Amino acid sequence: MESENIDFYNLGFEFIETKHMFLSRYKNGEWDEGKIIPFGPIEISPGACVLNYGQGIFEGMKALEAKTGDIVLFRPEKNAERLNESAKRMLMPTFDEQQFVEVVKEVVRANKEYVPPYDSGGALYIRPVLIGSGPILGVAPAEEYTFIIFTVPVGPYFPEGFKAIDLEISKKYTRAAPGGTGFAKTCCNYAPTMLPAKETKAKGFAQIIYLDASEMEYIDEVGTANFFTLIDNKLATPALKGTILPGITRKSVLTLAEQKLGLKVEERDISYKELFEESCTEAFCTGTAAVITPIGSVSLEDKKRVFNNGEPGEVTKKLYDFLTGIQRMEREDEFGWVVIV
Ligand code: PLP
Ligand code: COI
Repeated sequence: MESENIDFYNLGFEFIETKHMFLSRYKNGEWDEGKIIPFGPIEISPGACVLNYGQGIFEGMKALEAKTGDIVLFRPEKNAERLNESAKRMLMPTFDEQQFVEVVKEVVRANKEYVPPYDSGGALYIRPVLIGSGPILGVAPAEEYTFIIFTVPVGPYFPEGFKAIDLEISKKYTRAAPGGTGFAKTCCNYAPTMLPAKETKAKGFAQIIYLDASEMEYIDEVGTANFFTLIDNKLATPALKGTILPGITRKSVLTLAEQKLGLKVEERDISYKELFEESCTEAFCTGTAAVITPIGSVSLEDKKRVFNNGEPGEVTKKLYDFLTGIQRMEREDEFGWVVIV
């Protein structure tokens, strides 16, 4: 879509075509140099490993217009690292991490006209996708791979914006089991969450809170975001045990909570039952797309717990202000998280 036809002030989280993408191919054991090309379809063999066996991984990042007018990325080297962790789990070739950051910058520059203005609150979402594009019949890794980075201008992931969302705790579905791929950002983790999401949305919830697959007792994550809760004035989030995505926003929020708000933070098992107790006073979820989204209520079957009359809590608000303040260069970037494109 031509950028002049986009209403940057009313964007949702939907696919909009931008002008350019990066494409690199891996063949005979090495990556070609890759290039920025016009956005468009790619040719792929029907026998491609990704089409048949789901050998695909992706990342999610944002380019923002900062208060200073600069276009900035947030901790892009962490996405490079995580892409390679996912690649290793799926037996795919890794991509040079420094080059990753450089080509992300190039794609953003090539699509500069699609970066939503600072005062719109929107972002240019960046989607690196790495797929096993070579054909294979037996279940085994492809010999050829394709790496694409495309961009989409977006507004908030949850249409509510910085308003609290209602979540359902599921005792019916799980997302990832011990020994599985929960920690990797593989396409295979997302297709199975579409039916649970559809069912919960039909009941009026924004998303599901997934519990651990072994006991269905401890919180894993929120489908497309990590989970946090304030219990006894301590900020708790599920520990990384291989079943949840190690979120970059999660990691940043833990740092901000501890170092800027002086809160005690805990990475631990959190029973869903704790959310129904008085000592639990706030909850929110974090992600590149979700940023920090307050949780207004959690429900399990006929039990419902409302936090703060459905309003964002004080700690949630403070963390949101710190995080987005650093991301938009309204606050000092004392941790060196922001990278200018
Ligand atoms: N959990 C899942 C399943 C996700 O898809 C995402 C989004 O990338 C996150 C958590 C949050 O991760 P991050 O903060 O790195 O975007
Ligand atoms: C993100 O937060 O970047 C995600 O990838 C979440 C979702 C859109 C898959």
